[in-house]
Amino acid sequence: MHVALLKTADAPQYRQLMLEAYELAADAFTSTVEERATEPESFWIRRIADPTGTSAAFGAFRGPELVGTVALEFSTRPKTRHRALVIGMYVSPSARGVGAGKALIEAAVKHVQEREGILLLRLTVTEGNEPAFNLYRSARFEVFGTEPMAILTSSGFKARVHMWRAIERDNTAALP
Ligand SMILES: CC(C)(COP(=O)(O)OP(=O)(O)OC[C@H]1O[C@@H](n2cnc3c(N)ncnc32)[C@H](O)[C@@H]1OP(=O)(O)O)[C@@H](O)C(=O)NCCC(=O)NCCS
Repeated sequence: MHVALLKTADAPQYRQLMLEAYELAADAFTSTVEERATEPESFWIRRIADPTGTSAAFGAFRGPELVGTVALEFSTRPKTRHRALVIGMYVSPSARGVGAGKALIEAAVKHVQEREGILLLRLTVTEGNEPAFNLYRSARFEVFGTEPMAILTSSGFKARVHMWRAIERDNTAALP
């Protein structure tokens, strides 16, 4: 298993994996498979490698097969461009429990550490999703709030837990 930055050419495999994610782990995501299945290829390209630089995505590959992914969204707005959003974390069931999720989040953290001006990462996780919550805690994300009734799932409304972590660099060592 190896982790790499996804390129435009990976968009078809990425789309396939994310549609699997929205179907098999429906409660973990805000999007539904029906919504995403109709998106054009340009949507998936923007998600993994936006030409304007406002996205980046990583893939966990088993041989040539994409079995896991996580993406980042950046802001260009002056007041919010210091923060980036982690979205679309997913590892296919057959590839779980061997460190792919951890390697993906570590790759995302390293990427923003090397990108000028990003001071923090944010994400949300559905309340009760212990594998994802533990993964983020082990990557030093902290909870800063819980949004009640954030998503409607097949078993009713569920809250989303908001987490963040500061991005340390040599010149920002004093950040919390
Ligand atoms: C959450 C998910 C990405 C974890 O991927 P993974 O490759 O299995 O995770 P790893 O093997 O790298 O495990 C890393 C850490 O995550 C946590 N973790 C992973 N699976 C877990 C489980 N079943 N129960 C509890 N904690 C778990 C542990 O802290 C683990 O560290 P450890 O092995 O040192 O205990 C995967 O379960 C998944 O895709 N789930 C469905 C989609 C989802 O929930 N996405 C998150 C949206 S916010």
